[in-house]
Amino acid sequence: VGHIDDVQELRKTIPSRIPQRFVRDRIERPRLFMTNPTPCKNIPVIDLSNLQKGSKDEFRAELLQLSASCEDWGFFQVINHEVNLSLVESLEKVAMEFFMLPLEEKQKYPMLPGTVQGYGQAFVFSEDQKLDWCNMFALGLEPHFIRNPNLWPTKPATFSETLEAYSREIRKLCKNLLKYIAIGLSLDENVFEDMFGAAVQAVRMNYYPACPRPDLVLGLSPHSDGSALTVLQQGKGSSVGLQIFKDNTWVPVQPIPNALVINIGDTIEVLTNGRYKSVEHRAVTHKEKDRLSIVTFYAPSYDLEVGPMPELVDENEPCKYRRYNHGEYSKNYVTNKLQGKKALEFAKINTT
Ligand code: SIN
Ligand code: FE2
Repeated sequence: VGHIDDVQELRKTIPSRIPQRFVRDRIERPRLFMTNPTPCKNIPVIDLSNLQKGSKDEFRAELLQLSASCEDWGFFQVINHEVNLSLVESLEKVAMEFFMLPLEEKQKYPMLPGTVQGYGQAFVFSEDQKLDWCNMFALGLEPHFIRNPNLWPTKPATFSETLEAYSREIRKLCKNLLKYIAIGLSLDENVFEDMFGAAVQAVRMNYYPACPRPDLVLGLSPHSDGSALTVLQQGKGSSVGLQIFKDNTWVPVQPIPNALVINIGDTIEVLTNGRYKSVEHRAVTHKEKDRLSIVTFYAPSYDLEVGPMPELVDENEPCKYRRYNHGEYSKNYVTNKLQGKKALEFAKINTT
């Protein structure tokens, strides 16, 4: 991505023009001003404290709610998640400071073609592909061998330590959630932790500048996540931007202050033989407000053989996915453009 495709730079040099590469084909454009025929439902809310320290009844009720959320929505917001809120705020602050640096400074950490770490636009593979109205900065965290120390910024000075501390807490949250997801499926509570081994964790910060024509562009193309679980934090006071595809319409996610948005990724969809859904989502932009989101991807070790768990396959639920190596899945995911649930086709059983 050159100077010319950096959205923040575009806003400075040609503040009101939308270059053609960002203008979506009619069918893809967000219909932001459409009057919604059905009242918008909100994604479910899970109170982690009921699972962590609730009474037996509170635990059971929350667990049912969690299982239903994963089956029906593939998305939920978690409150009382135990992630230190001042850490959340500090990370938001250093992330914004990073995006506000001059382009030359940010380009010291370039996302090179074919890679997914660094500053730039990921998932761009051809000249005629439409671009997202977004600047991204992504880093691999765990296991350590995926880290590229040259891409960890020196400015702002506290960026790296803040990200480290935040990521440790998010890792704990992911492990907790996977434990309750397992219990909800009547599986051993450690089944995912044992299976995932040296779990992969990566972070992507998305900065969506305000856009003069939010009706023509997308902040982020529709996709499902390749992860097992994704944890999304939306900047304080940021506009509504995330939308999920549910019952054939795009449902906006109304941020709850201090909550984190969780979604099921492709890997859990495969492991649960499709019982839990990896739901397609996208981001839209806003005419006046910019938006920051910080996304953590949590996934199994690359060497794991992934396939539907035998406990979740029977005559009524025949096996829907093949077995594959998670590293190969990841590679396939990051070397293709974001395109709805297309990445999951890699895992489909070939019936022809
Ligand atoms: C994502 O799906 O990676 C981020 C969406 C958002 O910014 O809300
Ligand atoms: Fe996503």
